[in-house]
Amino acid sequence: MSLVPYFNDLSFYSDPSAHKSRYASLVKSFKSNFPDDKIEFFARSPGRVNLIGDHIDYNYFPVLPMAIEVDVVAAVSTNDSSFIIISNTDSDKFPQEKVAIGQDSDFVIDREHHTWANYFKCGLIVAAKFLQEKSGEGKYKLKGMNITFSGIVPTGGGLSSSAAFCVASTLAVLHANGVKEISKADLTRITVVSEHYLGLNNGGMDQCASVYGEQGKALFIEFQPQLKGTPFEFPVKNLTFVITNSLQVSNKYETAPIHYNLRVVEMAIAGDLLAKKLGVEGKPGIARDSNVDTYSLRGVMEGYCGPWDGENLKEGAAKLSKMIDVVSKTLTEKKGYTVEQCCKELGITAEEFHLKYLEKIPVKFDVLKLYQRSLHVYRESLRVLQTLQLLSSPVEDESKFFQAFGSLMNESQHDLDVLNESSNSKLNEICAIALDNGAYGSRVTGAGWGGSIVHLTSTENLPRLTSSLIDTYYKREFPQIKEEEIQEAVIDSKPATGSCLLSAEIIDKLVN
Ligand code: ATP
Ligand code: GLA
Ligand code: MG
Repeated sequence: MSLVPYFNDLSFYSDPSAHKSRYASLVKSFKSNFPDDKIEFFARSPGRVNLIGDHIDYNYFPVLPMAIEVDVVAAVSTNDSSFIIISNTDSDKFPQEKVAIGQDSDFVIDREHHTWANYFKCGLIVAAKFLQEKSGEGKYKLKGMNITFSGIVPTGGGLSSSAAFCVASTLAVLHANGVKEISKADLTRITVVSEHYLGLNNGGMDQCASVYGEQGKALFIEFQPQLKGTPFEFPVKNLTFVITNSLQVSNKYETAPIHYNLRVVEMAIAGDLLAKKLGVEGKPGIARDSNVDTYSLRGVMEGYCGPWDGENLKEGAAKLSKMIDVVSKTLTEKKGYTVEQCCKELGITAEEFHLKYLEKIPVKFDVLKLYQRSLHVYRESLRVLQTLQLLSSPVEDESKFFQAFGSLMNESQHDLDVLNESSNSKLNEICAIALDNGAYGSRVTGAGWGGSIVHLTSTENLPRLTSSLIDTYYKREFPQIKEEEIQEAVIDSKPATGSCLLSAEIIDKLVN
């Protein structure tokens, strides 16, 4: 069992000295927020970049992300009050808030009032449930806390600042309440649903990548039959990634009904429709396990093609290829399904349809693109297995390796744009600039509709790629952009250590 690590210094960063001044500012900020208080420990969790496999995790297909060095760090002290005070080094954007913890009603999130404290509450709720579960007693009395957060994952940048923030929050609450050791498996299991309390029905990739990250390694993340992250190294030394933030902020929460949650709902309806048409409905061992309580597209595949252990790549690829073929023949409304057409195919009334598919997660749409979305899921999942196969085979010809990996990423970008419709013209333009200037593959990473692009390149091509993106995208798109804003938009892509706890001893080591 692998435990969330505990460090007494900053040696888990690739360049520890580069982080000293940031920690020193965090300590200073904590002292000014809570002058009579002393930091007891730090809880930290990183952002992630997904190399390939987007919008498939909530269908339980494996993905290939890695944790990155940008992260969220919480400086924490405990007390016996009935409040948790959260403050932030960026107090303009995230002003101090007081979160009550005395009553059950304190744990209810008011979705109408959108604030960063809601994200903290997501982390708090799952931590409180875990503590309750562990204690087995009646009501669990949580410790009061004073916290200052420092986050350097760009928010709304597709690099999962929300998971970094929620997981760091959960870890802080657990440690403050006496959990000295927690397994990576438990921390992942409890945090994967944290954002669901906000009404965001995401999958588990972000939290799993944030928890399981290891320096220098990418991750193969599986959701079924078991949720787990397996770190692995790249087979080629001079392979590198560049992450560029498009600086188009993707407001995931505000746009959920027309973007992210709509994809979740479309894929859930596609799951039920395919299950019905392919005779999977009611089959023993195939559960209605999606976030919308429908058949998931993974479940449909296993019901139709037989069980898959998630590890045998050849077998998985064969089943996915079969599904790609079947989807095209089964979901015939290529222009999209109206509610009426869905009802007819599912054999239910409009009222039943609303109750079953549109009540739990509010969405807005003209038509439901069931064919396009499910085709994306099966094709993207196949590419993940092909990428993993490529990365786990010996490399005989580096140039062919780069071409093959890059092509898979580019095909992914094509489908994200055309089938999943989560890219846009500006994001496509960044990919095109990169491909003309030394990138082998470029794709939108994470949820999309803005956010960041991940580019695959070699160490030789890296300088040309970066300077072309700066000149051709940033300086043209944002003529007033400052040098430091450019520096921040081109993000360190080194695979990083996952969630961890740090002792207050590090404070004395921050002065050189
Ligand atoms: P994506 O989900 O597309 O990868 P993201 O996770 O950065 O991108 P959101 O899911 O919209 O974007 O989450 C952003 C929200 O997370 C912020 O609005 C804020 O509420 C919370 N958050 C993230 N980082 C911090 C931080 N350092 N301090 C406070 N709140 C934060
Ligand atoms: C967001 C979600 C993840 C995943 C990606 C798209 O980051 O939080 O669960 O669905 O989008 O792959
Ligand atoms: Mg997020």
